[in-house]
Amino acid sequence: MSARLPKTVLASVPSMVPAGYEVRELSATDAEVMAEAYRRNSEHLAPWEPIRPAGFYTVSGQRDVIRQRLEDQRQGRGGSWVLADGEAIVGQVTLSNVVRGVFQSCSVGYWVDGDHTGRGLGSALLEVACETARSWELHRVEAATVLRNVASQAVLAKCGFTWIGTAVDYLFIAGRWQDHRLYQRLPHDGPPASASASG
Ligand SMILES: CC(C)(COP(=O)(O)OP(=O)(O)OC[C@H]1O[C@@H](n2cnc3c(N)ncnc32)[C@H](O)[C@@H]1OP(=O)(O)O)[C@@H](O)C(=O)NCCC(=O)NCCS
Repeated sequence: MSARLPKTVLASVPSMVPAGYEVRELSATDAEVMAEAYRRNSEHLAPWEPIRPAGFYTVSGQRDVIRQRLEDQRQGRGGSWVLADGEAIVGQVTLSNVVRGVFQSCSVGYWVDGDHTGRGLGSALLEVACETARSWELHRVEAATVLRNVASQAVLAKCGFTWIGTAVDYLFIAGRWQDHRLYQRLPHDGPPASASASG
């Protein structure tokens, strides 16, 4: 599994992303702009994320986060792409928890800068992620939203995700275990590449 946006996805990105923005791979050199983006958006993201330690908002903290994400990509566990507005990063989408065998599933997480919402960017990020999952021959992409995150639920519905149920105390978000609505989209229907070998 390549860490880069697959060629088929790369070719279609401009038609998915609103004019003036670019989706590109997360890079080891992004620590400073990522730290700035998270500092700008700390209040906007706080209700939907784990409580971040102070170090998370520093360049060295982001260097560690990015190093881990890039290692996950190398190991085939996921991938992460950023939404760029010139030099600034104004959003991100991440595929994680890739499980192969008979599951062929992964999780998706995403955010858009509070000053850039309502322009179709969240939808664009999800489309890029789902197209990438399809190119990786992943059958399923799962998303989980806090019950009151209506913006996220609206984006998922628009992007063809189906609500599959509610999980009690599912993730430790904003300092407590919170119930989540779970969604899935099935971008790839072929059999697992290693179907005969998997359990
Ligand atoms: C959720 C989030 C990514 C949405 O990004 P966005 O760029 O505003 O989304 P889009 O512009 O693509 O909107 C897609 C659809 O959702 C709808 N929508 C977006 N925000 C909404 C809101 N607050 N209430 C109702 N509908 C909303 C839009 O109207 C649009 O539907 P339409 O095209 O039929 O009008 C953004 O609000 C965000 O980053 N929130 C904080 C982080 C977060 O919640 N991440 C997800 C965790 S599960």
